[in-house]
Amino acid sequence: MTQRLDGRVAVITGAGSGIGLATARRFAAEGAKVVCVDLDPETGAKAANEVGGLFIQADVTDEAAVRDLFQRAVDEYGRLDITFNNAGISPPDDDSILTTGLEAWKRVQEVNLTSVYLCCKYAIPHMQRQGKGSIINTASFVAVMGAATSQISYSASKGGVLAMSRELGVQFAREGIRVNALCPGPVNTPLLQELFAKDPERAARRLVHIPLGRFAEPEEIAAAVAFLASDDSSFMTANTFLVDGGISGA
Ligand code: NAI
Repeated sequence: MTQRLDGRVAVITGAGSGIGLATARRFAAEGAKVVCVDLDPETGAKAANEVGGLFIQADVTDEAAVRDLFQRAVDEYGRLDITFNNAGISPPDDDSILTTGLEAWKRVQEVNLTSVYLCCKYAIPHMQRQGKGSIINTASFVAVMGAATSQISYSASKGGVLAMSRELGVQFAREGIRVNALCPGPVNTPLLQELFAKDPERAARRLVHIPLGRFAEPEEIAAAVAFLASDDSSFMTANTFLVDGGISGA
């Protein structure tokens, strides 16, 4: 594997599972020092241990915790080159505008959208000091198109992530900080498996809309994140990066 990320320091939120875990492995394989952030102390510590990085247990909706985690990452490794804002939760059951309660709506916005606002807010000053940085925010294909399944709070949160990423990409481009939104299609992770467990027919409904005829594996998403993190994507910012098996093109 080429060492595109040699000497780079990367923070990954939600590193204990799914896309975050696969990306922690990929970043480490490409030479990065990885700071694994997760709410779950067991899976987060396991991931950090596996990739030889640092584990920070944090709730990414807690402003003080987010500020401290970026400071700790810089204290430990001396710099911050990459931030992958990936932690998120799935939609509540029956996430229709007619049924989703206000508290459930707010919780999804808090974890999926406010967390990205907080992580960007506290990552960017470190990158400004270096005059360089790459931020990748996990949105979803549902940020750019309606889904075949009802998920109003989730889609709205991911639309917010996409809009915020564009805005920040434009605002900080002249300071050498690139900000891109990653929009995966359905990925075979615990988050998706949980949704399918609740509604077994959901998988079939989804598959119909995926031209490649299958769900992504987390490693396929991690490969795209590594590209966005690396200088191979040096002319890309404020971008909507779809890795969706063709859903949005069909
Ligand atoms: P996952 O459930 O496998 O992993 C999410 C991780 O985030 C978990 O380790 C969890 O402990 C952590 N986390 C949740 N809330 C947190 C909080 N408040 N503070 C810190 N950590 C927290 O999920 P998956 O599938 O890997 O999803 C990662 C991201 O990708 C999410 O933002 C999700 O919305 C997005 N996504 C997932 C897709 C899929 O089909 N799996 C498709 C498109 C986007």
